[in-house]
Amino acid sequence: MKRFIKDVDVESKRVLLRLDLNVPLDESGHITDMTRIMESMSTINYLCDHHAKVIICSHLGRPKGEVNLKYSLRPVAEAMAKLSKYSVSFCPVTIGDEAKRMVDEMKDGDIVILENVRFDAREEANDETFAKGLASLADIYCLDAFGTAHRKHASTYAVADLLPSCVGFLVNKELKSVENILCHPSRPLVAILGGSKVEDKLPVIENLMDIADVILIGGAMSFTFIKASGGNVGSSIVDEARIDDVKKWLNMARDKNVQIVLPLDYVCNHSLDSEDKPVTMLAGDIKDGYMGLDIGKKTIKLFKKYIKKAGSIVWNGPMGVFEKEEYSLGTKKMAKFASKSRAFTFVGGGDSVSAVIALRCSKKINHLSTGGGASLTLLGGKSLVCIDHINEAADE
Ligand code: 3PG
Repeated sequence: MKRFIKDVDVESKRVLLRLDLNVPLDESGHITDMTRIMESMSTINYLCDHHAKVIICSHLGRPKGEVNLKYSLRPVAEAMAKLSKYSVSFCPVTIGDEAKRMVDEMKDGDIVILENVRFDAREEANDETFAKGLASLADIYCLDAFGTAHRKHASTYAVADLLPSCVGFLVNKELKSVENILCHPSRPLVAILGGSKVEDKLPVIENLMDIADVILIGGAMSFTFIKASGGNVGSSIVDEARIDDVKKWLNMARDKNVQIVLPLDYVCNHSLDSEDKPVTMLAGDIKDGYMGLDIGKKTIKLFKKYIKKAGSIVWNGPMGVFEKEEYSLGTKKMAKFASKSRAFTFVGGGDSVSAVIALRCSKKINHLSTGGGASLTLLGGKSLVCIDHINEAADE
């Protein structure tokens, strides 16, 4: 990392801190998972302890460039105020006179949280005038929004051209963990991949093919693999357009000495909403009129064998329709096995992270990534555009 927050003199400076405070909210607007807020506290506390004035900006949800108070950052500011020993105020606008006035009144060690940057369409357009509005509030820019560092937006990208820029503790920690697992893994490196679409995991599978020793495939994406191997998948979801890619990978895996391990059985039903009792069927022999909705017990046992022997584990994507209790066992078991393993374990992606949190085993996982798309980008062997941008500026 070329320009880290610790290398910058922040004393009495106004620091614009871009965080990813895109937290899940329930129907009544209560935060249901505080992970992203908690993980942002290292940089906030460091800045306050070093007498900076901390001006936080973030997005929440996808309000499509319009003010929609359902996506206001006010509840996040309230939650942060309860966690912090420093003064936290919420600014109901993102840029402009009111924001300027609040920032002018800040004392060293104070925190102001600006309203959702995505209430302005110029944010996602990476617009320079919007970035100028943000930059005019501060002396230094710090990017610690790991989960959004793959998005070229005004508050993550354009603003870095306007202020001396650096990255914070969370970005640094996330990058080091990915580097650890991809560049210096303890062997065998076992990847557990799930989720619905092969399409989404395409670069990840191609990259892991050169790095992993074993790739365990679960979730709906596994049906494309079973079909490509000649099996009958009933009415399970298949990514028809990717069948040829999958055939290519299955051959490639043999040449590269990577073991691709497919499910042996599935928990099936007529449809996701069917009220019939789920039945277990062998992979490759799913009856017509049935679809696989979770991996079965034989598969869980098989995957456990590989996870137990792993030196490192990287897990992305659920094994079944985790939101429904009757199809959640596979994902829950993976969370349990990963947390019990002595291997270095990296978990990234919304549903796999939720499973780990719901089972209260997050403390036993070495790294629980705060980024879904961002961690997939890195696991796919690509860098994050906003971090590259800050590194390039440091080179100039
Ligand atoms: C995420 O939740 O993955 C990040 O906050 C990015 O959100 P986005 O996909 O709406 O840009």
